[in-house]
Amino acid sequence: MQIKQNLSLGWRFIAEYDEQWIQKYNSDSEEITLPHSNKELPYHYFGEQEFQFTSIYQKWLNLDASEVKDRLVCLLFEGVMCKADVYLNGYLITSHKGGYSEFEVDLTSHFKINEDNLLTVIVDSSERLEIPPFGGYIDYLTYGGIYREVHLVLKPKLNICRAKISTPNVLSDDKSINALIHIHNEEKLQGEYTFSYELTAENYTFSGAVKIQLDGNKNQEYELNIDDIPNIVLWDIDNPKLYHLCFVLQNNHQMVDTYTTRIGFRLAEFKPEGFYLNGQKIKLLGLNRHQSYPYVGYAMGKRAQRADADILKYQLKLNTVRTSHYMQSKYFLDRCDEVGLLVFEEIPGWQHIGDEKWKQQSLRDVEDMITRDFNHPSIILWGVRINESPDDDGFYKRTNDLAHKLDPARSTGGVRCIPNSRFLEDVYTMNDFVHNGQKVALYGQQQVTGLKEKVPYLVTEYNGHMFPTKRIDNEERLMEHALRHLRVIDAMYGDDDISGCIGWCAFDYNTHKDFGAGDHICYHGVMDMFRIPKPAAFAYASQCSPDEEVILEPVTVWARGERDECNIAPLLILTNCDYVEFYFGDSFMGRYFPARDQFKNLPHAPIIIPEFDDGGWGFNWQEAHFKGYVDGKKVAERRYSASSIARNFTLTADDQILHALLIDSTRIIAHISDEYGNNLPFAHTPVEFAIDGPAKILGPKVKSMLGGYGAIWIKTLGKEGDVTITAHLPELSLRQKIMIKIQ
Ligand code: GAL
Repeated sequence: MQIKQNLSLGWRFIAEYDEQWIQKYNSDSEEITLPHSNKELPYHYFGEQEFQFTSIYQKWLNLDASEVKDRLVCLLFEGVMCKADVYLNGYLITSHKGGYSEFEVDLTSHFKINEDNLLTVIVDSSERLEIPPFGGYIDYLTYGGIYREVHLVLKPKLNICRAKISTPNVLSDDKSINALIHIHNEEKLQGEYTFSYELTAENYTFSGAVKIQLDGNKNQEYELNIDDIPNIVLWDIDNPKLYHLCFVLQNNHQMVDTYTTRIGFRLAEFKPEGFYLNGQKIKLLGLNRHQSYPYVGYAMGKRAQRADADILKYQLKLNTVRTSHYMQSKYFLDRCDEVGLLVFEEIPGWQHIGDEKWKQQSLRDVEDMITRDFNHPSIILWGVRINESPDDDGFYKRTNDLAHKLDPARSTGGVRCIPNSRFLEDVYTMNDFVHNGQKVALYGQQQVTGLKEKVPYLVTEYNGHMFPTKRIDNEERLMEHALRHLRVIDAMYGDDDISGCIGWCAFDYNTHKDFGAGDHICYHGVMDMFRIPKPAAFAYASQCSPDEEVILEPVTVWARGERDECNIAPLLILTNCDYVEFYFGDSFMGRYFPARDQFKNLPHAPIIIPEFDDGGWGFNWQEAHFKGYVDGKKVAERRYSASSIARNFTLTADDQILHALLIDSTRIIAHISDEYGNNLPFAHTPVEFAIDGPAKILGPKVKSMLGGYGAIWIKTLGKEGDVTITAHLPELSLRQKIMIKIQ
């Protein structure tokens, strides 16, 4: 049986490369845990060279004979940026290139049982020109270090490496499974074995067994078809039903190895007339996600990865995400499976195509991506073109052929930004940046493709650099930012030739000097880097049914002097209410309905109050009161103070209990608001965080609140205990404290 053990604890980190540490343990070096960023970075205004260096990670591995039991000793690295040389006891075992793919290392031949084995990983985090996405310019940072987990895997010499599971004919009554099983047979054994399978879910089991013949080859592919599987519930976005599929390899009733994977039964089809899930047409509505976070770049573990999927699904109410522009954490994808968030995953790259060696690496990325992520039901599309690259028929024929060979059932896409580009994929995926605030929101598909016939077509980016917007920008800009997203979504809903649209982007991100607002941040998100929403976030959220959640979000700081010429209106209200009643002080100003004249196709058009009589400059400023109605019933209200004063200071954690054994983390948000709980968007006062207990703060302890919010992540240290976090605003003499349990 395979044994898998998380190796997040007990690492040493040496920031300066020195050859001697290949052979020798450096006991004076820094003790660290994984995931790890090779450099803790400032929030902004730092150069992209800061993390581009070669560093060394070390760890002792010690296993006794009873643990190893004649098994292969392997390590699984989930992500190292961007080249890793793995040494054991001074011997180079593997050199892996590519910062987004996982890789396995077999240490067995150099592993000494019952002794200390020195593991040294030399990590080159520079932008090596021969490795995608490097070689040209890129609008994001790639950070450095062993930024995902590492696992020790002890494998029987005869083992099940992986199984690619397809679910053909999912729309028929009795379902079937096609499993392509890869068996590793180190000792080239031959003979008959029993291979059993068990498909399980809550109150569900379906099992069986077959005889298989080992052919004496070191690596054997075995195809298993399981038919007539009864009572299967399909996986879809509202009910993402998952099943565990467990295989057991047996020899004379003795268990040799087991392998478990999680699957869903679903049919995803792109057609010229739209996208269909299990035969039902749905419009894809999504945002692009970069996997970066403030201060630690990519080095965020399981909980934060899962939290992002939850934000996209439950807070932003999206049904789709694009993992721009690379393979993302398996934890993120697992959560997408669980919550029913559809995924467009793509290979690393940004506009640049390199030489043949570079292309070979990119083809390896295609293979690694599909091999790792094949079984995720949430993935509906493989991106096999370098984002926004020029046409290269030879290269893209190879990436498409490879993807189709590895996965005949899933469609491929290839994101481009040039019209009339060669269509070699199954879905024409286009970054359509035509909307600049004027009339046109999206091109028609045939304007873009230049093809005579209609093809499956998906918009994969819009907005972004066309209208960068900070969360602390002026109210009118924030309003226009939300409106631009709404106009594009509206056009998408109204065009049957467009399967959906995936906007740029979910979260702001640090970037190279050649992009962004000069502080090395692209303010393109509908949320900031801390995942705090801008109004545009509610442009998306308000498209959900009020049965799911009532959204009533007036885009206003409610002050007479924020806009030019003291204008308050037009007032934009992002909402899924049928209508809104608006009071200025005690005066009822009117009942307002969705702006259907401007937004004909949205599930929920915003409400726009074009003007109202606020008495004008110099008159007494009054409170605002908005009441939202659905089916004639008042379902939500928002009040805005006429005199915003910092009255509330809150400190909240996304999670109250964290795990001790695995390295865990959670986000903590300090927030200043007024008497009605409304954010104070220009509160930038300093905040001091302190922590007591077995966890640490990622990033600085003292910083500025940013537009009313100050967020941090804390990371556990592998120990149990109570953690107290305090936040103090010296200028306002406000203090808050919370407790988190680590167990
Ligand atoms: C696109 C690109 C994205 C991002 C975006 C900004 O061209 O694919 O990575 O840079 O522009 O709007």
